[in-house]
Amino acid sequence: MIKGVVLAGGKGTRLWPVTKVTGKHFLPVGDKPIIYYPILTLKKAGVKDILVVCGPEHTDQYVKLLGSGEEFGVNLYYTIQVEPKGIAHGLGLAKSFSDGKKVALILGDNIFGDEFSKDFSNFDKKNSGAAVVLKRVPDPQRFGVAKFKNKKVERVIEKPKNPPSDWAVTGLYLYDNRVFNIIDNLKPSDRGEYEITDVNNWYIREGSMDFIKAKKYWIDAGTFESLHQANLLVRKNRNFK
Ligand code: G1P
Repeated sequence: MIKGVVLAGGKGTRLWPVTKVTGKHFLPVGDKPIIYYPILTLKKAGVKDILVVCGPEHTDQYVKLLGSGEEFGVNLYYTIQVEPKGIAHGLGLAKSFSDGKKVALILGDNIFGDEFSKDFSNFDKKNSGAAVVLKRVPDPQRFGVAKFKNKKVERVIEKPKNPPSDWAVTGLYLYDNRVFNIIDNLKPSDRGEYEITDVNNWYIREGSMDFIKAKKYWIDAGTFESLHQANLLVRKNRNFK
């Protein structure tokens, strides 16, 4: 059984001043708050136990909004990422929660049109390794980007000025439990964060990384522009469930 982690840390500075008074994950897309989407993505993929990693601001609001998870048909647990030290650091907080099991990490502002239940059950059957979801995008320099060599991903480059492809690494990742040791041995990047891209490159080097291609839409709703686009996309696809 894969354990789920929703990372809802971060200060949402790109949505200032709205995020001065509320968290970005509570803003509406379609007919629900942003954070409902990643929780539902994990739920639809078959995940039952989900740890919500909250930022230090508006912490009570997460619990008030999401509660025990009963409404979603999942069990929700909460922890706080006190300092914004990066995605890998946020995942590291799930070590004891993971209880030696595989983990699925999803970023709290990522909205997917696809369902991943088949991909998750395939991954669950594997002994070890990792998987990330890729999506072709028009603006790869905003993301982690896959560099291909002989049709295989050679490595992921974080926010490259000259993107080697237009395949972005989305905010949905699957890892075996060794990920927590890998995180413990990471060094912070130039921007002072523990980068999930460094974790992904570890698995790519080992040859144990799988790539899942998203077929439908994907958007991270972290800026005013992408929040607007997310609303248009979700409305167009009527994917309110
Ligand atoms: C993060 C990751 C990046 C990934 C993106 C997906 O970027 O570092 O590799 O492509 O999420 O949303 P950030 O949102 O921290 O800029």
